[in-house]
Amino acid sequence: MARTSTASLKEKRLKQERISMVTAYDYSTAMLVDKAGIDMILVGDSLGNVVLGYENTLAVTMEDMIHHSKAVVRGTRNAMVVGDMPFLSYHISIEEAVRNAGRFVQEAGVQAVKLEGGQERIATVKAILDAQIPVMGHIGLTPQSVNAFGGFKVQGKDLETANKLIKDAKALDAAGVFAIVLEGVPAKLAQRVTAEVSVPTIGIGAGVYCDGQVLVINDMLGMTSGHVPKFVKKFANLEPLIISALQDYKREVEEGTFPGEEHSFTINDDVLQKLY
Ligand code: KIV
Repeated sequence: MARTSTASLKEKRLKQERISMVTAYDYSTAMLVDKAGIDMILVGDSLGNVVLGYENTLAVTMEDMIHHSKAVVRGTRNAMVVGDMPFLSYHISIEEAVRNAGRFVQEAGVQAVKLEGGQERIATVKAILDAQIPVMGHIGLTPQSVNAFGGFKVQGKDLETANKLIKDAKALDAAGVFAIVLEGVPAKLAQRVTAEVSVPTIGIGAGVYCDGQVLVINDMLGMTSGHVPKFVKKFANLEPLIISALQDYKREVEEGTFPGEEHSFTINDDVLQKLY
């Protein structure tokens, strides 16, 4: 099986085959995702909330992203790995954006990068594409704009913002992105955007009409307690399973029933007897 590429994704859209994507942040999870045959892995800056325990994604750095992207790439053979450009890594200058996108490819070995924003990021997107690095767009509820939005709110509900979303998607498509993430937008608007662009749309909280879906892996595997957004489906509920396994381990360690004979190494009695 060949690794998912921008060309194979294009073909999937043409054949109307849906595209699957999840996030991963480490080697062993990436191996599981790859074995499951998921098309794409996003090393998302959701790393900030999910792995590093921050309130949002804004504190995530290029160093954090490169470190985790390297691990994910080492765990994959078939999935395309997309590195998520963190806050401020593409906002200061176009040169810095190209250099940072290049670091994802050169140091971590990802196949593509993703960045948030529409019309205001077109020059940056084009410059990264000029460096032969495939770019994935991301519009709608873009988490790096949480402070500008005044919270995590569904985007594109009124005429003005819905029209802006369509313009953003068309601008990204014209610039040459290979796919566009639509996050937190009404399903029927995502359907309209999908019809207006030539590249696959990948939804998260954007309904059923997108060409593909992406979810944060910890959410969809039920590894987090507390508030779960409406758009998340828990395909497993691992949190209670993990806690129960850890409680069993603690009990067995305390009782002395783990480790057993079968987990222990042996030594020749002769050697034991000759010990001082
Ligand atoms: O960082 C992230 O996980 C994302 C999403 C699209 C899920 O950007």
